[in-house]
Amino acid sequence: MMNAEAMKTNVREKYAEIALQSKENNACSCCGVGTAGTYTIMSESYTTLNGYHADADLGLGCGLPTEFADIRQGDTVIDLGSGAGNDAFVARAETGPEGKVIGIDFTPEMIRRARLNADKLGFNNVEFRQGDIDDMPVNDNSADVIVSNCVLNLVPDKRKVFAEISRVLRPGGHFSISDIVLSGELPDTLRQSAEMYAGCVSGAIQMDEYLNLITEAGFQHITVQKQKPILIPDEILLEHLSETELKSFLDSGTGIFSITVYAEKAGGAPKAEKKEKRKLNLSELQVAVSCCEPGSGCC
Ligand SMILES: C[S@@+](CC[C@H](N)C(=O)[O-])C[C@H]1O[C@@H](n2cnc3c(N)ncnc32)[C@H](O)[C@@H]1O
Repeated sequence: MMNAEAMKTNVREKYAEIALQSKENNACSCCGVGTAGTYTIMSESYTTLNGYHADADLGLGCGLPTEFADIRQGDTVIDLGSGAGNDAFVARAETGPEGKVIGIDFTPEMIRRARLNADKLGFNNVEFRQGDIDDMPVNDNSADVIVSNCVLNLVPDKRKVFAEISRVLRPGGHFSISDIVLSGELPDTLRQSAEMYAGCVSGAIQMDEYLNLITEAGFQHITVQKQKPILIPDEILLEHLSETELKSFLDSGTGIFSITVYAEKAGGAPKAEKKEKRKLNLSELQVAVSCCEPGSGCC
């Protein structure tokens, strides 16, 4: 098993490669790692969203965090792991010119690509900062909203990231994060694959563990807005598993899910007339997950 620094280096190198290639080369590799035939598609279509900018869309997301982010005109929004700026530009369409959007990414090639996009669009209120999201280059209590798309699974110390989110959000601020989580265990060979780590699969943790980290970081009104199973094609799994291992993995009932989670930092004035986009609360979610347990007969 790689240590945390080696994992980060592996991720940075893979996403540097991706930043230098076209979306078409990444198209079969959502959330990663652009050699043809690597992973399944996890991303959702952005093309109809206000603020969509094709050059920023490398097909790397696993949800639409801005859909549930309740961004208002004038807000300061931070996008964690901003890639080429896909969600940052969508967020900017909602903050308007009087707001501010800060994208953070630790891959210099991604930062360069995102800044080029911002320059082309002529935005002077969208900024991309190079940095690690477990130690953000942002002041305390400075953001109204945080969004992130398919990034925290890539970070070895997720607890630290949620602590950082809590530090930089203003009291009463909130986040909307799309990410990959598990229900059940991955086979060891998948879990240990550097490629599957950078492809957003083997760094994923159990859904209840993920939600507990958010609770332990002190957030409230934690809500899973959206949940979608991710099906990895057999031919990709067979790059890492034998036929027998594949069969027992498929029989195990382990589920890989994309979720979009919303939560608020305590304190501050609540926003008036919060948009009603709630889908599942925590106890409802537990029912949804147990539905997909092995032997439940519903999946
Ligand atoms: C799967 S891509 C998603 C990019 C973007 N959110 C999108 O949807 O297009 C993950 C991004 O997170 C960045 N990243 C991964 N770990 C990071 C960390 N610890 N700190 C900052 N950025 C990180 C990678 O460089 C990469 O650009």
